[in-house]
Amino acid sequence: MNNLLSAPLQLPCGAVLKNRLAKAAMTEGLADPMNRVTPELLRLYKRWAGNGFGLMLTGNVQVDRHHMERSSNVAIDGNGGLEDLQRLAEIGRQDGAHFWVQLNHTGRQTAMDVNASPLAPSAISLPMAEAGCGQARAMTQEQVADVIRRFADAAAVCRETGFTGVQIHAAHGYLLSQFLSPLANARNDEWGGPLENRARLLLETVRAVRRAVGADFPVSVKLNSADFQRGGFDFEESMTVVSWLSEERIDLLEISGGNYEQPQMAGMGESADHQGKPVTASTRAREAYFLDYARQVKPRASVPLMITGGMRGVASMNEALSSQACQVVGIARPMCTHPDSLGKYLLNGDRQDLPSLERLLEIPRDALGPDIDDATFKRLESFGVLGWYCEQIERIGAGLEPALDLTVLEALQNFQQHKADKTRDWARP
Ligand SMILES: Cc1cc2nc3c(=O)[nH]c(=O)nc-3n(C[C@H](O)[C@H](O)[C@H](O)COP(=O)(O)O)c2cc1C
Repeated sequence: MNNLLSAPLQLPCGAVLKNRLAKAAMTEGLADPMNRVTPELLRLYKRWAGNGFGLMLTGNVQVDRHHMERSSNVAIDGNGGLEDLQRLAEIGRQDGAHFWVQLNHTGRQTAMDVNASPLAPSAISLPMAEAGCGQARAMTQEQVADVIRRFADAAAVCRETGFTGVQIHAAHGYLLSQFLSPLANARNDEWGGPLENRARLLLETVRAVRRAVGADFPVSVKLNSADFQRGGFDFEESMTVVSWLSEERIDLLEISGGNYEQPQMAGMGESADHQGKPVTASTRAREAYFLDYARQVKPRASVPLMITGGMRGVASMNEALSSQACQVVGIARPMCTHPDSLGKYLLNGDRQDLPSLERLLEIPRDALGPDIDDATFKRLESFGVLGWYCEQIERIGAGLEPALDLTVLEALQNFQQHKADKTRDWARP
């Protein structure tokens, strides 16, 4: 079989990805108390970069240190550390890979210990106490303008320090995605109300970033196919925003979905598809959560598409590429369980270092430990299981092997401990 994953891809700005595999963004939690790059982060990317993927994306890097999903991530907001960013860029660019920074502002999904009253489109806090987010404050016009400037400034730093592209995070319920959603954005100025107003912050941010980095530098957007919430940013609106983004000549549109309340990006959340129709267990279990959406949006999108979420098998990835549903395949969680062997397996079919392939196919339910009932699993599912993957990232950064036999409860305990230690050390400016 001709493996389409190995084919290069030229982006609208002229840059070329050497193949169609992308390591999708995953929050690392490995920055220092000033939100700068650490040796642990360098070690993590050295290992991931060895897979030979055409595109590597960082985890979300914040444009404002006061708005982060946790205090231990990298920020680019005038906090220095440019040489370390340069070192990171060099590692990720290994063997001709592209290495892009995912830029983000968390808005109301900011951790309480980072900011108890984070900026948001409106004073509508995240209705999910267990997420531990602060009380949302409505942004002034000046604060909206400041966010746009921050994205542009951070993007310019990415280019200066040797990264080869940027991705603007407009998915998963963070600030730009909050502006898109009528559930989080109740503004009645030019930033709220009809879709063209709710999408204004995203489009203005794309334009400002493009001005900051120039015409030949890849600019990508990660967008939700839907928020999967009644009254939220929905499938039809998402399709319209895609057509507007196409007009902006972005280079790659990554399709995802959901937010903290509906974690569909990881195949969790309620059982409804992007049009709100119930889905069967078999549909849910199948690969590629957003493939159907990509197929439907394709006629409206004159921009290369990347789909991320549940993509696992070489055959189905090839099918997605050959049908032109997408041009790039994004992979996240398997990088935590199999940090060295994915590239060899996906590009060359080499299974040697992949002893437990089935682990690539599902959330490790068996990692929950012996005494967990269904109700507890549901409660733990989104945060607990994400914590399990975060813990593997923490281990790889520390130079250890992933611990596939770690239970979710153990991982959660470790994760909470790391988080508490790092928050305590966090240097509030
Ligand atoms: C530990 C972890 C951290 C993540 N952090 C981010 C992030 O920083 N930015 C982002 O856009 N998506 C993030 N995601 C979502 C992934 O990029 C991806 O959309 C999702 O995991 C589905 O892809 P997969 O099935 O290949 O894992 C994260 C996922 C995991 C498991």
